Amino acid sequence: MRKYTLNDLAPADVAGKRVLVRVDYNVPLDDNLEVTDDTRIRTTLPTLNWLIDAGARIVLLAHFGRPKGKPVPEMSLRPAAVRLSELLNRPVQFLEVTTGPEALAASEALGRGEVLLLENTRYDAREEKNDPGLADELAELGDLFVNDAFGAAHRAHSSTVGVIQRIRAKGGLAVAGLLMKTELDYLGHALDDPARPFVAILGGAKISGKIDVIEALLPKTDWLLIGGAMANTFFKALGYETGDSLVEDDRIEMAKALLDKANGRIVLPLDLVVAAEMESGVETRVVDASVVPAGLKALDVGPKTVAEYARILGTARTVLWNGPMGVAEIPEFRAGTEGVAHALVSATEAGAITVVGGGDSVAALVDLGLQDEVSHVSTGGGASLEFLEGKPLPGVEALSDAPTGAA
Ligand code: 3PG
Repeated sequence: MRKYTLNDLAPADVAGKRVLVRVDYNVPLDDNLEVTDDTRIRTTLPTLNWLIDAGARIVLLAHFGRPKGKPVPEMSLRPAAVRLSELLNRPVQFLEVTTGPEALAASEALGRGEVLLLENTRYDAREEKNDPGLADELAELGDLFVNDAFGAAHRAHSSTVGVIQRIRAKGGLAVAGLLMKTELDYLGHALDDPARPFVAILGGAKISGKIDVIEALLPKTDWLLIGGAMANTFFKALGYETGDSLVEDDRIEMAKALLDKANGRIVLPLDLVVAAEMESGVETRVVDASVVPAGLKALDVGPKTVAEYARILGTARTVLWNGPMGVAEIPEFRAGTEGVAHALVSATEAGAITVVGGGDSVAALVDLGLQDEVSHVSTGGGASLEFLEGKPLPGVEALSDAPTGAA
């Protein structure tokens, strides 16, 4: 069933109304509590500007960090309000409470086009329990609901699910925001109707964390390129020498089964960058993937692998990338991830739809300044993984169904 989105509404539907907007402003801060990567804030601007132009009275809900149900000063959303105000070029009111009489009064006092951000929903211990009492209190703050928090859509919490049910029970609409719609369109298109060849690149440390994604993607992709420490478990399954590399011994059988099932469509690294320790300044060597010497561990893919992956990516018309190829935060082990990032940019220039999801691969892309050179960079870490696994996202499921026949 298709969900209502902001595109289905006319400005008159929201003019003068209090619109409760759930955003994901879980952004990195530096020691001075300043936002160091504002991507998750910037990507909500299309929704917010649409609502502002339409004359809505905007109440923003968000979580920040994992404060475990009590106020933690370093996890306040105040820095996000400061950054949002700069980006919107207009005042953003910030309140140190999330619900209650003060929040209600502030929501009612909002004028058309005005924006209020409430404090971290996770300061309230009821939030992560999807407590109906908190959902009721949140639902008092708005007449309509817009969910633009793709990054939190895999969480069934009071501010992502319960409040939607309460707003709808009161007769209000709950719609996907423009960021949420973009995310669902790009990821959904890759999964349901990809232009072929469809190539997925999966990296990261552990097979165990990605097993459901591999299972879900295998039947859909033409090629599944593997990188990161996850490759070591496949190597062990093939009987290769893995030296001191990280191997998940309890997943070797699973890796064998996946290789059997894949019928040659799982592509593993050809060579590896190895070192004795995972630290900067250490001596490195490139070795064939089948012979990692004892005492050394694989920490990145090697140049032959980058060339082969770039060749395959050059044939792709749809690409999905999740997870770095090596320990990209250490310069010695970054070349594989960088090489794949550049190959992705070339594939995009050649007309492929390229989608990057997952915190670490996105961070690597941002470090290289290449985030605008691919088709779509997802703001979801866990949420994009769960979506790729084919799991329903509770924050999307709860939204109002679009009437049949709506485009
Ligand atoms: C994220 O950063 O991926 C989202 O904001 C969700 O955060 P969580 O994993 O703490 O629920």
